[in-house]
Amino acid sequence: MYCLKRFLLKFTKASTRPLELLAVTMLLMFLTTSAVNSQERSNAQSSKHLGVASCATSTCHGSTVPFAESNVLQNEFRTWNEQDPHARAYQTLLSRESKSIARKLGLASAETAEVCLGCHADNVPTEEHGEEFELSDGVSCEACHGGAENYVQSHTNATHKENLDTGLRETENPTVRAELCVSCHIGNDSDRKITHTIMGAGHPRLSFELNTFSSIQPAHYQVDDDYINRKGPHNELQIWAIGQLVASEQLLTNIKEFPRSGLFPELVHMDCLGCHQPMSKVDWAPNPLTNLSAGSLRYNDAHLIMSYQLAKTVSPSLANEILSNTQAFLNNGVSPNDTDKLASKLLQNIQLVRSALERAPLSQDQGTAILNALISNGLSASHQGYASAEQSAMAINSVLRAISSSTANSDNKQTLLTGVETMFEGVKDPERYRADVFVLGLRKIQTSLVR
Ligand code: HEC
Ligand code: HEC
Ligand code: HEC
Ligand code: HEC
Repeated sequence: MYCLKRFLLKFTKASTRPLELLAVTMLLMFLTTSAVNSQERSNAQSSKHLGVASCATSTCHGSTVPFAESNVLQNEFRTWNEQDPHARAYQTLLSRESKSIARKLGLASAETAEVCLGCHADNVPTEEHGEEFELSDGVSCEACHGGAENYVQSHTNATHKENLDTGLRETENPTVRAELCVSCHIGNDSDRKITHTIMGAGHPRLSFELNTFSSIQPAHYQVDDDYINRKGPHNELQIWAIGQLVASEQLLTNIKEFPRSGLFPELVHMDCLGCHQPMSKVDWAPNPLTNLSAGSLRYNDAHLIMSYQLAKTVSPSLANEILSNTQAFLNNGVSPNDTDKLASKLLQNIQLVRSALERAPLSQDQGTAILNALISNGLSASHQGYASAEQSAMAINSVLRAISSSTANSDNKQTLLTGVETMFEGVKDPERYRADVFVLGLRKIQTSLVR
């Protein structure tokens, strides 16, 4: 289990970035997929969060080994506790790094600051704390699955639908999952707000792709026939696509709601490497997709560009609107009124694509078309900068995995894998983005797909 070793290595060495793992994940996870029916969203009512201790007894989710007889693994607690970084999210707030961030922000301490707890713990209001609730559980079971007060007694005998009605979050639904993960991994405009001031104090840059992050979160569940019977089909292509759209929607909402600092937009919405790079790096080139002139302030458009690439397959007319509104939005990025109007238009465009996808999930053929669009975009726009290349790499890997059954034959598989590894090599280090290596990887992938 090479993969497992890499996971463990990763979680003992906090500085390792997820990208290094992806090529390996890719090798091991060639899955065949089918379509997902979008389901009703759960309207989880507010119910008490009971705490990890109440999920973790040995006959419930705290077994040391998976239960053969059960339809869920029952060792979820062990996986989460031993391998999942979410279990240590609160402990992170006690680290030297966090102390330094808190000091620079003038906070009494990171572990008591709402601004940190919002994402590093299950920070629900005190009246929703059950008896065994502990903030120090970090990003706990109920932070993702919803407060258990009303489903804890019944959920082992109830149907999945009944569980959803009593407060279990529908985390298998791509939209519901995306909204959940993105609220912390991109941040929102209310209780999970991240700013350039927090980054300036030393917080790591956030980057996210739903399907990639879903696969590198140590799995405490198994997608097998029984799972699909209970929860419906599992479609990684759809998870990737919905993830891009929801991320774009969240970013467009954030940029409207965040306060500006005087003349300036909130810099957390910009491409970090657009500013933080040596002046001697003079490699600007025209980009037909964004139409930005040299020296422009760069919005972090990575999710928008991915959304455009997938929209071309879902609805060419909507895609054209997304492109023209994106260009207008990026080029008006310093004028507050126009920015707000354009952000609203784009938000509507993206929501329409998402509704279309929820009605008719992506097929394998559409996946192939999207893959080709992503590769040509990467090849022609590799000079767009690091954030775009990084997002493209995760996207290409995710889409390849989702449609692997219909791509490269076995002769070409080695070229494909080398291509994927090379592509990730190019974006391994944000401070040393190697566009040439990224492009070389893309060309290898392209070659492997020609039969
Ligand atoms: C309540 C906030 C919150 C939610 C919700 C959340 N995460 Fe996280 N996630 C975090 C924090 C905080 C960390 C960093 C933990 C640490 O190292 O202290 C993290 C870390 C991770 C990592 C490890 C990243 C790395 O660099 O090693 C992955 C993978 C991940 N999350 C995936 C997901 C997925 C998938 C979802 C949705 C199903 C999700 N997260 C939902 C807050 C959250
Ligand atoms: C919008 C949600 C959000 C907020 C607000 C937030 N964090 Fe984080 N933080 C994250 C996520 C997500 C990660 C993991 C990033 C990754 O690896 O992709 C993280 C990672 C970190 C890390 C690095 C952990 C590691 O394992 O290397 C530190 C330290 C940290 N946060 C401290 C803080 C402190 C201190 C605050 C309050 C000032 C704070 N965070 C506020 C979401 C947030
Ligand atoms: C970062 C978010 C996150 C955290 C934290 C988390 N889970 Fe999950 N869990 C998921 C996702 C995503 C899935 C897969 C989608 C689904 O089936 O709902 C899942 C699936 C499950 C399943 C369903 C398995 C099946 O076959 O239907 C169980 C049971 C479960 N989790 C229990 C737990 C327990 C217990 C904990 C705490 C020890 C926990 N989870 C912590 C996100 C999370
Ligand atoms: C529009 C340009 C711009 C963008 C975009 C930008 N920053 Fe900054 N950043 C600055 C400036 C200006 C400073 C302050 C430099 C100083 O005080 O010397 C700064 C400071 C920082 C610092 C502190 C450096 C120090 O000297 O301690 C960090 C870390 C940082 N930014 C991270 C980020 C991250 C992460 C992003 C992306 C989310 C980002 N920045 C986006 C302009 C930018």
